[in-house]
Amino acid sequence: MRVYKVKDYQELSRKAANLIAAQVIMKPDCVLGLATGSSPIGTYDNLVAMYENGDVDFSGITTVNLDEYKGLDASNDQSYRYFMNEHFFNRVNVPMERTHVPNGTEPDSAKACADYNEILHQAGTVDLQLLGLGHDGHIGFNEPSDTFADETHCVDLEEITIQANKRFFASEADVPRQAYTMGIGTIMRAKTVLVIVSGADKAKILNQMINGPVTPRVPASILQFHPNAIIIADEAALSETEL
Ligand code: GLP
Repeated sequence: MRVYKVKDYQELSRKAANLIAAQVIMKPDCVLGLATGSSPIGTYDNLVAMYENGDVDFSGITTVNLDEYKGLDASNDQSYRYFMNEHFFNRVNVPMERTHVPNGTEPDSAKACADYNEILHQAGTVDLQLLGLGHDGHIGFNEPSDTFADETHCVDLEEITIQANKRFFASEADVPRQAYTMGIGTIMRAKTVLVIVSGADKAKILNQMINGPVTPRVPASILQFHPNAIIIADEAALSETEL
């Protein structure tokens, strides 16, 4: 794991955007794995600015997102499809038909997961997978578990995740209890993984991810075994980590 310690969220966002832009410039038809949440918003803003300056062209890329709430459609402003359109896809020149997010409106979980696996297989190996870190160590929506799931699956969200994500919803009752997520196996097969972590509230779990035992109880800890994992974290997030 290569860890870049940065001062704050602004610097984190710039650095992450630079790495993603470098990937796209080096391989214009690359497959980007993308993430939602508060962590990547600044990264997307920086990528949009680079696009507007004429420094990056997203017309050749394919994107696959990590996850989606079960039951939310694209018009729901809490769906991850809506988030991606708002923060990134509608602001750059990626062809919308090559942007992929699990289908939250498919009520049949087995079908939703099989369909997304098919999309992932068609897209091919992810060149760079962007990841945030959940407070319980989840990546995508791979919650702590007894095993590491390989491919796309439906998960029951942990209470801590519902609590963390309720800030975006009108009320806690509105937070979906289930989600479809890319599996750990797919994430681990990405050529590069880029984890961005900001804030003191992530300090404990970031230390467990980097220095703790590799265990499905802290799903992100598996990234210790990834051959090309890059972590960009700010001083607050790294305040409990010995490097
Ligand atoms: C969410 C998402 C993850 C995200 C993580 C951290 O629940 N499913 O993909 O990376 O939790 O979110 P945030 O960046 O808002 O802290």
